Amino acid sequence: MAVIAVCREHAPGETRVAAVPETVRKLSAAGFSVVVESGAGTAATYPDADYQAAGATIAKSAKDAVAKADILFKVRGPSPEESAALKPGTLVVALLNPHQDKATLAALNKAKATAFAMEFVPRITRAQVMDALSSQANLAGYRAVIEGAEAYGKAMPMMMTAAGTVAAAKVFVMGVGVAGLQAIATARRLGAVVTATDVRPATKEQVESLGAKFLAVEDEEFKNAQTAGGYAKEMSAEYQAKQAELVSSHIAKQDIVITTALIPGRPAPRLVTAAQVASMKPGSVIVDLAVEQGGNVEGAKLGEVAETANGVKILGRPNLPGRIAADASALYARNLLAFAGLLLDKEGKLAPDYEDEILKAALVTRDGGTVHPQLQG
Ligand code: NAI
Repeated sequence: MAVIAVCREHAPGETRVAAVPETVRKLSAAGFSVVVESGAGTAATYPDADYQAAGATIAKSAKDAVAKADILFKVRGPSPEESAALKPGTLVVALLNPHQDKATLAALNKAKATAFAMEFVPRITRAQVMDALSSQANLAGYRAVIEGAEAYGKAMPMMMTAAGTVAAAKVFVMGVGVAGLQAIATARRLGAVVTATDVRPATKEQVESLGAKFLAVEDEEFKNAQTAGGYAKEMSAEYQAKQAELVSSHIAKQDIVITTALIPGRPAPRLVTAAQVASMKPGSVIVDLAVEQGGNVEGAKLGEVAETANGVKILGRPNLPGRIAADASALYARNLLAFAGLLLDKEGKLAPDYEDEILKAALVTRDGGTVHPQLQG
């Protein structure tokens, strides 16, 4: 029977876990034996006893958990100690951050692990259930609004009271991918007046269908800004200048700005300048969801709340899914449960089909070498 190990996360502030009791039960029913490191789910509110009740064995340490494992499930890449303890050929499945985290890839290669990066699961219909980028971005978008609302000293909805009227907050969402769409929906549910911008034309209709107003420079470059893969291209300096001009007058009137703009494999585009931040009213809040990729906002600091001279707070919190750890873990664990289904043959034996397009796309290391085309050179 194929053994899956689930270990505690070690990255600072990482509260998520790669399996929850519900997925342990389903993995066991599918023919896996699951070993969970003691305390792996504690920060996400899943105690050892619940894993045990779901059919898992509890291991005292990460080393004990991985010693006999055929597969290691993690949220982030394994720690150096975990990698060193792997048997050659162990399948490792995690959000490996492969473009940036070369040290983890090197350790996995040294251990001769067969590693899959959940970031590289293709966005095809069959793989939607395994799309960890989407499951986590959706919660990040939700959480960004909650954090923004908490830091904002006024109410979100309009309220008409005997003592007078409270105005609705104005929320501006920049970047309308998975996170941005959920941010719009959440801000609308809280009663804010929402506007949004993106460089991909397809987003216009999506924004409007959520009851928000779309704002963008809709020129020829905008019409071609979406790649065949559905992502944004890096825009020209001319486009960025026009975008900045349009955004400048708008941003000065906003109460909360949420930025989520990313370009795969590139640093995050700079969308808000220090001058634009300085144009905002005291008490306004900016939440920069791209802060880990270099940030969309000038002055955003990773892991900090930066307060500007004019009283604007810029929230640079990393890992927003980790701030809603129980749900983020449950969704990520279901992504992995679906992925695990690709690793067994019809008889329930461990036999990954390396010709399967999902496994092929996600595979990053095998037999001591980095094999993914995007990671060569
Ligand atoms: P992402 O995280 O790569 O980027 C976030 C957003 O930032 C994107 O909407 C992008 O257009 C925008 N952006 C980039 N540069 C910008 C700029 N200079 N100014 C303003 N906005 C900018 O995107 P995410 O959330 O991963 O989604 C990318 C695409 O993939 C979308 O089309 C989404 O609908 C699609 N998708 C498809 C899925 C499927 O078919 N299974 C699942 C999830 C997403």
